[in-house]
Amino acid sequence: MDAVRKWNQEFQEKYGRPRKMYCFTMGCQMNAHDSEKLIGVLTEMGYVPTDKENEADFVIYNTCCIRENAEQKVYGKLGWLNTLKKKNPELIIALCGCMTQQDVVIERLQKTYSFVDMIFGTFNLYKLPQLLCQRIESGKQVMDIWKEGSDIAEDMPSIRGQNFKASVNIMYGCNNFCTYCIVPYVRGRERSRKPEDIIEEIEKLAKDGVKEVMLLGQNVNSYGKTLDKPISFAELLRMVNEVEGIERIRFMTSHPKDMSDELILAMKECDKVCKNLHLPMQSGSSEVLRRMNRRYTKEKYLDLVRKVKDAMPDITLSTDIIVGFPGETEEDFQETLDVIREARYSTAFTFLYSKRTGTPAAVMEDQIPEDVAKDRFDRMLDILNPIIHEVNEVYVGKETKVLVEEISRHDESILTGRTEQNMLVHFQGDADLIGHIVPVKIKENKTFYLIGERI
Ligand code: 5AD
Ligand code: SF4
Repeated sequence: MDAVRKWNQEFQEKYGRPRKMYCFTMGCQMNAHDSEKLIGVLTEMGYVPTDKENEADFVIYNTCCIRENAEQKVYGKLGWLNTLKKKNPELIIALCGCMTQQDVVIERLQKTYSFVDMIFGTFNLYKLPQLLCQRIESGKQVMDIWKEGSDIAEDMPSIRGQNFKASVNIMYGCNNFCTYCIVPYVRGRERSRKPEDIIEEIEKLAKDGVKEVMLLGQNVNSYGKTLDKPISFAELLRMVNEVEGIERIRFMTSHPKDMSDELILAMKECDKVCKNLHLPMQSGSSEVLRRMNRRYTKEKYLDLVRKVKDAMPDITLSTDIIVGFPGETEEDFQETLDVIREARYSTAFTFLYSKRTGTPAAVMEDQIPEDVAKDRFDRMLDILNPIIHEVNEVYVGKETKVLVEEISRHDESILTGRTEQNMLVHFQGDADLIGHIVPVKIKENKTFYLIGERI
């Protein structure tokens, strides 16, 4: 780290400006949080952020590979970066994240993208300073991809986008091997952080003024099972609830197969835990779910939804849904619509199935033609969106508490924030409210957001 810092200081003395960095983040909240750590380390080494990619001295892409179009985007961007590098040979281009954990990608990068300076993966993020130093000293491409994670690197500095809201990794990796999903191959086996490390981090965040924490893991419901002293996620949640200064706790993602009564009770009893649950359904057909290796049925999923709603009547549910999984029939698809009608989500992340090389589903027979999948997708939105509108209509006329996040990009007099139920609210107010939880009366429901008025 010191060597790169010195190298950057020399640059600053010579050119009268610091070296600039640009970090492009794709994909999920896990990646977003990894990028906060990358930016933290780069800042400590003397880089300053810029939002103009073409002015940067160091460009890093933290990639996602969950669907094919994410990867295509990266290849396209790399071509463009090559033209930038021709104009500025000093530019260092780095690629990390999930995409680089795949052999097919590495082969393609080696063959066609030799101008990429640094390539590393999801398990050795913390090695960025060493790898950068190696690149500077050798002047050659540095590639370091690990197949598995060893110990969890604690204490990486991180620069958060907002100082009142923070993500906290509670575990890494995934053991579930849903047949469509590449994550277990690129993020490795499940590893939980020790509860004392998590609590220490959250206490520090609270002292820094953080009000809302998002506990992150691919399957938080199986948190703690692999620790020397096993503990459940429900127990962890109760511990986090005790941290002074924290006002809201969120978590994702919950796998329905592991959602215990103990966790439902902990959610209900912990006053700081937001009454909002992300519960990926993926498909409503038990037969498709079996082939997806989700290990629950339509009935079990719906029982769970009922149980959660009985325990916490004001809870909102969000979900992930995949349309066009191999072998999905019109009847299977209708079952997905059934679940949508019954679960009544307030938000849903909907995806067309994307074939990922190396996953079991990629070689399943009866891949669904794109036009059929697309037609189902559109029909699903026709059912889903009116339900989302109806679900959010209950807030109209009511008072709610909003954690103010930022000024609207379209209108400087408008603030945006989120309710406990994770609904986006726009209302008129001053920027000094950012970071505060304020009471707002909801005036209008715009389906994907609400319009309110400060009380
Ligand atoms: N195709 C489409 N969607 C996918 N997801 C994961 N893998 C795929 C794929 N191959 C979706 C799932 C998951 C979310 C993060 O991304 O719905 O819950
Ligand atoms: Fe992928 Fe399934 Fe693991 Fe989620 S639980 S990351 S969908 S394998």
